[in-house]
Amino acid sequence: MNNSIEFDVKPDWDEIEKVRNESADFLQSHELSDDTIHSLSMIISELIENGLKYGDFKTEGNKVVVIINVATNMITVEVLNPVDESAYEHLSKLDKTIQWIRGYQDPFEAYIERIKEVSKKPLHDMESGIGLVRIAYEGNALLDFFVAENNMLNVSVVSNLEKGDRVSS
Ligand SMILES: Nc1ncnc2c1ncn2[C@@H]1O[C@H](COP(=O)(O)OP(=O)(O)OP(=O)(O)O)[C@@H](O)[C@H]1O
Ligand SMILES: [Mg+2]
Repeated sequence: MNNSIEFDVKPDWDEIEKVRNESADFLQSHELSDDTIHSLSMIISELIENGLKYGDFKTEGNKVVVIINVATNMITVEVLNPVDESAYEHLSKLDKTIQWIRGYQDPFEAYIERIKEVSKKPLHDMESGIGLVRIAYEGNALLDFFVAENNMLNVSVVSNLEKGDRVSS
């Protein structure tokens, strides 16, 4: 059985649902529990959404790449998107958000803190800033990122599997 899978995602919102379904099939083949598949699907969608929202798709052929790897005790999701200079402000926000989440012993506290903040903001704010903290909390996950030389941003999420996250255990 393959331990990893990769998807190319065209800059089109409809692609999210497609990748979400295909990755759920892949995760199911690894006998993960429905709850785990559900939170990983959320993680994958949130990361692709960010890639499409903040990525650079001015050049024909630019795309988001999703790589999922399943190991014994953890699952890694990497989402890559091209960035240009206009994304630097967002990269700094990405960095700050990740550092801020790490500052909490329990990401649930960060999540609650963020929900309180967001509830004060106007509706339909494109940058509600809940996606990454939700990933950390619901996916029991560690977030990281780097920008490679080819201007591809790589956002990674390592989700720790507890006993019972696998159907067979
Ligand atoms: N792929 C990315 N490229 C560049 N910046 C990013 C990327 N992902 C996140 N960011 C930055 O990090 C911030 C926090 O991301 P997060 O997903 O938590 O919130 P959001 O996308 O603003 O809102 P929401 O996910 O709730 O719709 C974003 O506002 C953006 O500035
Ligand atoms: Mg987001």
